[in-house]
Formats: sequence, C-alpha cells, structure tokens
Amino acid sequence: MKAVWFERFGPADEVLTVGDLPDPVPAAGEVLVRLHASGVNPSDVKLRAGARAGAVMGWPRIVPHSDGAGVIEAVGAGVDAARVGERVWIWNGGWQRQFGTAAERIALPAEQAVRLPDGTGYAEGACLGIPAMTAWRAVFADGPVAGKTVLITGGAGTVGRYACQMARLGGARVITTVSSAEKAAHSTAAEWINYRDTDVVQAVKDMTRGEGVDRIVEVDFAAGQAAAIALLKPGGVIATYASASEMQPRLDFYPLMFRNITLRMILVYLLDPETRRQGEAQLTEWLEAGALSHAVVPGGGLADCAAAHLMVEAGNKLGTVVLEVA
Ligand SMILES: NC(=O)c1ccc[n+]([C@@H]2O[C@H](COP(=O)([O-])OP(=O)(O)OC[C@H]3O[C@@H](n4cnc5c(N)ncnc54)[C@H](OP(=O)(O)O)[C@@H]3O)[C@@H](O)[C@H]2O)c1
Repeated sequence: MKAVWFERFGPADEVLTVGDLPDPVPAAGEVLVRLHASGVNPSDVKLRAGARAGAVMGWPRIVPHSDGAGVIEAVGAGVDAARVGERVWIWNGGWQRQFGTAAERIALPAEQAVRLPDGTGYAEGACLGIPAMTAWRAVFADGPVAGKTVLITGGAGTVGRYACQMARLGGARVITTVSSAEKAAHSTAAEWINYRDTDVVQAVKDMTRGEGVDRIVEVDFAAGQAAAIALLKPGGVIATYASASEMQPRLDFYPLMFRNITLRMILVYLLDPETRRQGEAQLTEWLEAGALSHAVVPGGGLADCAAAHLMVEAGNKLGTVVLEVA
C-alpha cells in the first residue's frame, strides 16, 4: 500500500517519505480499514517535528496521523464479520501506535473505528477524532450547558469552531474570541470579540451586563488565565486543551480558589471508555441530524503530506487539513 512515514524527527519536507509498505493484517479484535481521508492535526505535526518534551521515536519508522475515515475491509478474530463494508471514522490511529492514518490502510482495535453516518463524507469524518471530540469534551465535561453563558476562546480554530456549535446545540449562549471579522464568520458564533484589538474582559462584561460567564473553553490557558479569573462566576469552569503561548504558565492559585473555579484539563487521547462512548453517541446523533458544520481544508493526496504539515504549522488555515487518500 502507499503510505507516508518518517524515520527521524525533523522538518516535514526533510523527513516525510512517501512510498510502499506491506498491507497491514488485522489481529484478533482489530479491523482493517481502507482509508479515504487522513486528518492532519497540530499534535501530529508536533510529533513528527520531535517537539514533544522527552520525545523518542519508539519505532524505527512511524506512519503519522491519528484521525481518518474509510471503509472496513476485513476483520480479525472475534470481530463481527458484519462490520465489513461499514463506513467508519477513526480515533487515536496514531496515538502511541506505529502505524497511523497517513496510508491507504490501517489495522487497529475495532472500537477505534466508529460508524460514520451515511450523510457524512470521509473528509468530514477525518475531523472527528481530535477536533470534534476535544470540543465535545471541553464543552460538556462539567455537565449540561443549557441556559449557561460559555466563552469559547479561539472560535475559528478547529476545536473552537466545533465547540461554538456544540455549546449552542446544548442550549448555551456562546461568546467567542477571534482575531478578525473573517475568523468570526468562520467560527459560526453570533457574538464575538476581536481579542487582538479589544479588551476582552470589558467587552464580555458589557455583553453580559457585568455578570460574566459560567464556563470557558480555553485554547491558550496562559494567555487566558487572567481574563478567566475576571470573568468566571463563582463555581465556574475553565476547560482547557492547550497553552501554546507559555507551556509552563504560572498558576494564579488563590484567585482561582477563592472563586471555587474548576480547572478542567483535557487530553482527548485519554478519554475513558465510558466518556468516549457518550461522546461518540452524541456526535453520531448530531451527524445524523445534519446539525454540525465541518471545516475541511483540502490538503491534496498522500504525496502532498509534507505541504499539509507546513499548512498546519503555519497556523493560518481555516479548518482541518485533510488528505484525500483513495
Ligand atoms: N489537549 C487536547 O486534547 C487537544 C486536542 C486538540 C488540539 N489541541 C491543541 O490545541 C491547540 C489548537 O488546536 P487547533 O487544532 O484548534 O488549532 P487551530 O485550528 O490552528 O486553531 C487555533 C486557534 O486558536 C486561536 N488562538 C490562539 N491564541 C489565542 C488567544 N490567545 N486567544 C484567542 N484565540 C487564540 C487562533 O486564532 P488566531 O489565529 O485568530 O489568533 C486559532 O483560530 C494546539 O496547540 C493543539 O495541539 C489539544
């Protein structure tokens, strides 16, 4: 099969190789998926670059990417043969595994291939494993949001855009921060603030008649901590999934403690099985209802993988960069 791999960490255009690898064979409990789409996320790019603290290759060769979508072609022992032919989306395809989704085929545990509703395309399915699931967890980890006001920072990001939609679907009032009017439109949120040229705390206070917000979904904890403390109601929640501007931020302990604020850390790769099943069920319901808008940035084919990584690194794309594999 055609696949993309790297044998050392480094710049995309130096280390990513396109070539042929043997077709994988599904082991007991696994499915073999013929991939049609492979999603490229910031963590895939950081892994290939060796940017993670203490990064070690672990294997002599790694096929990158966690997200993808395709069709089950074969099943291993113990997996219902009726799943052959099922359209699926994939989660954790490249998380602590050697062979990810930047290939024509992947074999992985059956539960990591989730039925993709007929109305959802493969490219959209390749956005679900990381962006959509992270957003779902960040919005709902601390209970329903109906009637609550949720501030979603970075609403034009892949996670932020889904979070804006999901919080609204959950019945929340959504306010988001973006860096331009174009990004505001992309976010889908009706209420937005340009965080680059506006005092976010004052703007949110004005929008909420001084009440502040119940929850914050935070794309950059270090950058947003002070505003969160100023804006969260007592008992509020900061659900955060990144802190790119400062990886070791100083925690403002007592202001957080005296407001009884919950700091909710999210790593989508490590959702426990029951939580994950709940998330999958909710995503399936929304997908079947056509309730979610997806933002796919076409990244070309497997041969364009290095360019796709560079697009993600540049950070100015609007949506999830997806490679068409078939
Ligand atoms: N923990 C997890 O499980 C998990 C899951 C998914 C992603 N992540 C991480 O989350 C980060 C974002 O991922 P992504 O795929 O959503 O990236 P993305 O599509 O590049 O979006 C990032 C967004 O964040 C916005 N942003 C950056 N700093 C901001 C700030 N201070 N205030 C408001 N908005 C800000 C950017 O807006 P502007 O360009 O307009 O500034 C951009 O729209 C990455 O570091 C990724 O690795 C973590």
